[in-house]
Amino acid sequence: MTLKRLLIQNLRNLSNVDISPSPEVNLFYGENGSGKTSILEAVNLLALGRSFRSHKHKALINYQQASFTVFGKVLGQDHSEVPIGINRTQEGEAFFKANGVNVPSAADLAIYLPAQVINSDTFLLLEGSPKVRRQFIDWLVFHVEPNFFPAWKAIQRCLKHRNSLLRRDRIDSFELAPWDQELVSLTETIHRFRAICIEHFNACIDELLEEFVKVDGIKLSYYRGWDKDTAYAEVLSTGVERDQRLGYTHLGSHRADLKITVKGQDAAEILSRGQQKLLVCALKIAQGFVFNQLTGRKCIYLVDDLPAELDEKYRSLLVNWLNKMKTQVFITGVERETLLSSWRDYTDITPKMFHVEQGRVTETG
Ligand SMILES: Nc1ncnc2c1ncn2[C@@H]1O[C@H](COP(=O)(O)OP(=O)(O)OP(=O)(O)O)[C@@H](O)[C@H]1O
Ligand SMILES: [Mg+2]
Repeated sequence: MTLKRLLIQNLRNLSNVDISPSPEVNLFYGENGSGKTSILEAVNLLALGRSFRSHKHKALINYQQASFTVFGKVLGQDHSEVPIGINRTQEGEAFFKANGVNVPSAADLAIYLPAQVINSDTFLLLEGSPKVRRQFIDWLVFHVEPNFFPAWKAIQRCLKHRNSLLRRDRIDSFELAPWDQELVSLTETIHRFRAICIEHFNACIDELLEEFVKVDGIKLSYYRGWDKDTAYAEVLSTGVERDQRLGYTHLGSHRADLKITVKGQDAAEILSRGQQKLLVCALKIAQGFVFNQLTGRKCIYLVDDLPAELDEKYRSLLVNWLNKMKTQVFITGVERETLLSSWRDYTDITPKMFHVEQGRVTETG
């Protein structure tokens, strides 16, 4: 997948941007506050329907405007062209469009432009809550298994009903039974989808870890959300009193995690900040590889402020891997030369350069 054209209107300080990115490497440079991250944010909005910076859509709309629009032309692996767009208003309305028709949700856009983000927030993957790592796994599962998202949505609905029953003063077991039954079947489905993806993921992560982190004893293990030796139906029935006390369903696929350890200890407590960043880079590259392996498609990479996040040696390592993947990348940085040198010195690619200046974007070569 590549983004062939990108149009942005009234997103933060970007009032009117119209660029035709290279299918390979796109570098955006400019002063602090010029709008570089906002460009990646715009691409991510097309990719995911939401920002990686804010959950408040109003923060994204230019102060003086009623709405923002991001439009992109995506070129598929089969050379088909799909126009996709998103528009959000101050009133909270959201419009998603793909192939000329309105689609109901961001998830309907997400299939067209799979994207991996590497920025200062994603580097917190190890320190963050299990939810962050669950989202990391589920990105892959979502893009690989079309039945994942409907099952995931059905689980949310089921949990909501079950939890509201649990909070009632009196419940009879026959009232919970239909929800438990559905929950068991959906949970096993979700677990199976996740386990398959993790297996592929584990098959390629070691080589990357060796290059990026060089620390012995790093281990990734998938926790399904409940004890692996107990059937989920049993977990629900034996845990019902505790669930009632808590007022929610304690265990299940909504508690899954990707546990990352070094010699048995939580990696977040052992690895240095720099090593954590490198580990996250390895995980992100592995995602792209497995995605490609399982679907034949490629995801794009959005890397924010690369020079500030990694030193030269590891910048070149990341650049080398991105280059190996032959995928479209968007990278930002303050200084033109520092940004360009990683590519010029380590690959034979000539990136497209864009200068960002007070919300205006100009192609400079
Ligand atoms: N809703 C908004 N309306 C108008 N301007 C905004 C809005 N939200 C943020 N801005 C401004 O938009 C500019 C772009 O910010 P952005 O984070 O994209 O810059 P940047 O080039 O990535 O900077 P840095 O190098 O510091 O990371 C900033 O000057 C910011 O103050
Ligand atoms: Mg920035």
